Amino acid sequence: MVQQTLVLVKPDGLVRSLTGNILSRLSESKLEIVAAKMSRVSREMAEAHYMHLEHKPFYPELIQYLQGELHDRRKVMALIYWGEDAIAKVRQIAGETNPEEASPTSIRGSFGRIRSSGLFENVIHASSSEEEAEREIKLWFEPDEIIVELYPTRREVIKELKVRQWA
Ligand code: PPS
Repeated sequence: MVQQTLVLVKPDGLVRSLTGNILSRLSESKLEIVAAKMSRVSREMAEAHYMHLEHKPFYPELIQYLQGELHDRRKVMALIYWGEDAIAKVRQIAGETNPEEASPTSIRGSFGRIRSSGLFENVIHASSSEEEAEREIKLWFEPDEIIVELYPTRREVIKELKVRQWA
């Protein structure tokens, strides 16, 4: 089944210059990248991304982590991978969420660690299901930032919208 999945290279992955390594490992999946960008992560964005974890004890630190406050690198790289069984293929290469349980050849097994607080510093995020992928993709990307049609869209005329243009 053709699927799409969201990948985030988290601030620890960026600060440790792991992006090239992560992308080349993910390329083994033969999936297609249909969107990619660097993104600053506001508190609202981080909270929306991890909204299902609000009750967890590690939630406040998880929000700080995604915002880059633990690594002084306030950005993430967001990508959409698209193709046959994309969700399982990406999660296989990413490895288990807990870096200690991840295969040593996976991305998280190779580069992840557990902080002394117990927070998983696991380098990348990968969507866990089709429902989560849709929610996350719609959170991180606008339709026009994606080069294929993943979900239905509608056209709207927005008047007096203030946008920044090249001077
Ligand atoms: S998953 O992998 O998305 O299905 O897992 P889920 O349980 O929904 O998400 C857990 C996210 O919280 C991060 N995190 C931790 N989980 C469990 N225990 C600890 N101590 C912990 N610390 C952080 C975990 O990495 C998942 O986020 P992502 O971005 O998916 O890795």
